[in-house]
Amino acid sequence: MLVVGENGVGKTNLLEAVHVAAQGFSPRTRTDSQLVRFGAEGARAAISGQRGEVSLELEVTVRKGEGKRARLNGAPLRAAEQLRTMVSTLVFTPDRLGVVKGPPAARRAYFDRVLGRLAPARSTLPAEYGAAVAQRNAALRRAAGDFSGRDAIEPWSERVAALGAELVAARLDALALLEPSFGARAAELGLGEASLRYDGEPPTAEGLAAALERDIERGATSLGPHLDDVVLLAGGRDLRSFGSQGEQRLALLALLLAESETIADRTGVPPLLLLDDVLSELDPGRRQILAARVRSAGQALVTATDAAMLPAAPDQLLEVAPGTVLEAAA
Ligand SMILES: Nc1ncnc2c1ncn2[C@@H]1O[C@H](COP(=O)(O)OP(=O)(O)OP(=O)(O)O)[C@@H](O)[C@H]1O
Ligand SMILES: [Mg+2]
Repeated sequence: MLVVGENGVGKTNLLEAVHVAAQGFSPRTRTDSQLVRFGAEGARAAISGQRGEVSLELEVTVRKGEGKRARLNGAPLRAAEQLRTMVSTLVFTPDRLGVVKGPPAARRAYFDRVLGRLAPARSTLPAEYGAAVAQRNAALRRAAGDFSGRDAIEPWSERVAALGAELVAARLDALALLEPSFGARAAELGLGEASLRYDGEPPTAEGLAAALERDIERGATSLGPHLDDVVLLAGGRDLRSFGSQGEQRLALLALLLAESETIADRTGVPPLLLLDDVLSELDPGRRQILAARVRSAGQALVTATDAAMLPAAPDQLLEVAPGTVLEAAA
């Protein structure tokens, strides 16, 4: 589905609304009051469709001062975020280029969400590990202020080592699942020899013990997967530092397409793809390849300022003008 309209008419708003209804949160902001139209008291986003053979109706409402509510086929959900586990949705926005060109924290956050989608049973691991590091850091600072002995740090070091090793293993498993498709999709888009390299080692109790003095001085845990990175490479070059704008965009697209394929393989249902402003900065040949790939990847919603930017005829063409969306002849 192609969504076209001039700058500022509301294409991104439409895509964001679909994301809110499908996932329970915005890809742009965690401040839900920003989703409400200026001057209005509340907002509502609803979508209906199919997940495989099953019909779904999803609805999310935000009221100022009341928070968010979600319904699935009419039944209220405990938390809107539960939608996340029911309808997988992948989103490309220019902001997300931070996954490729941003600091390591942006990649860790991205790959930990991938991990959660590919291995739902391990989806809470990153948060559990983060909590253990926070507890160890608090114990380090108490020890520095002599509020308690160093003995209080030990149990947290053990927990950081155990959960840290588990988290590194889970991340490596997720990368191994993703990498073949990532390489293939990147090659198809003209980014040769693309690969993913995990930068980091599982923490050990011995390593943490050896770092204890330094960690107490700094009040922070100086090793473990909260400091690791995933390096995106093409032809041996780190795309974060040496990729062109277009190459960085292709790498992110290859990642999302790889994730989409991997999810489709594992669950039998391809995720919904929301691709905002994806076509700009790509040359005509690459747009063509992307259009063909997206067409075979399940349902996709693509925005562009001009219908001519998509080299293939979409199944559905929507024209956005301020406050309205009209279906146009494709
Ligand atoms: N909460 C809000 N209430 C009302 N209008 C808003 C709100 N948030 C953003 N807007 C406005 O909505 C307009 C449309 O924005 P949107 O980003 O969807 O445009 P777009 O069609 O994607 O444009 P572009 O082609 O430049 O990406 C903007 O002018 C923005 O200021
Ligand atoms: Mg936009």
